Amino acid sequence: MNDPVQPAEALRRSLAELLDGLPPTQAAGAVERLIAAYRGDTPTHAPILRDRADVAAYAAYRMPATFEAVRSALAAFADAVPGWVPGSHVDVGGGTGAATWAVTDTWAGERPVTVLDWAEPALALGRELAAANPALRSARWQRARIGTALELEPVDLLTVSYVLNELAEPDRAALVDAAAEAARSVVIVEAGTPAGYARVIEARDRLIRAGFRVAAPCPHSAACPIVPGSDWCHFAARVGRSSLHRRVKGGSLAYEDEKFSYVAATRLPAEPAPARVVRRPQIRKGQVLLDLCERDEALRRTTVTKRHGDLYRAARDTDWGADWPPR
Ligand SMILES: C[S@@+](CC[C@H](N)C(=O)[O-])C[C@H]1O[C@@H](n2cnc3c(N)ncnc32)[C@H](O)[C@@H]1O
Repeated sequence: MNDPVQPAEALRRSLAELLDGLPPTQAAGAVERLIAAYRGDTPTHAPILRDRADVAAYAAYRMPATFEAVRSALAAFADAVPGWVPGSHVDVGGGTGAATWAVTDTWAGERPVTVLDWAEPALALGRELAAANPALRSARWQRARIGTALELEPVDLLTVSYVLNELAEPDRAALVDAAAEAARSVVIVEAGTPAGYARVIEARDRLIRAGFRVAAPCPHSAACPIVPGSDWCHFAARVGRSSLHRRVKGGSLAYEDEKFSYVAATRLPAEPAPARVVRRPQIRKGQVLLDLCERDEALRRTTVTKRHGDLYRAARDTDWGADWPPR
């Protein structure tokens, strides 16, 4: 029997097929419209993804990157709750469903899945793409508006990826409060920009006030040690570039790095990392410089040298975003 296709590969194939079916100039035009719509970072009062051309362009252009960012965040969360598998998942502002694919890639198997979004064309395409993922066979794709009237059913895992930036402050607060009320674990992912980080911190504080503990990326649930305005906590996920990316952005690189900020918070017993690597490690002759966020609520640079033996070898292999020391 052939091995089943893993979710990441099945998504890549489905998006490649979708892209093949799009007239090239129309796809590039739709992407440019979307880039302009998203550039403002402004809350919107009506869906940006208005029709099939918009959502197909969004899926082909952005979904591989949002999928990889969410997958990285979920991997860090999974490390902090070893042995736990979500029994149900709700993806709020789920659009074409990138996070549902990332959840099935992190924890194999079928579970009740609900995707909520106000853009019907996004839900329709999400449902179509999900046909290639057996674990999403019975997912529900439901129209819902995020706001103070949003009602959520109790759920194990709730994801909100690349959505907070489209919401005004009262709706962001209402969404995080509703998530804290309904879910045992909440994973929020935003763009890895100063504004994205600020929205993640705002949500993190709200979740902690609601009784959650941070499982990742932070080693603790105290205040973030970054002085506001001086820096921003973010990570990078590698994403293969499609022909559409090359058409829109030019250049010939086979990949790009998607920068993202995130928080994974839970009511479950969790074991956060002792420390996390918060910048790309600098490898020098005989030493590795690691910028760490540590459990005692401090940011520190550590130098690991050859004298540290196994730890030095681990430092050479570690990466931005990883636990330190490796578990
Ligand atoms: C940038 S897309 C992200 C989609 C998906 N979560 C991902 O990571 O690829 C933002 C999504 O949020 C949805 N959205 C924005 N404001 C909303 C609102 N007030 N109610 C429901 N959905 C909303 C949009 O329709 C869109 O699908």
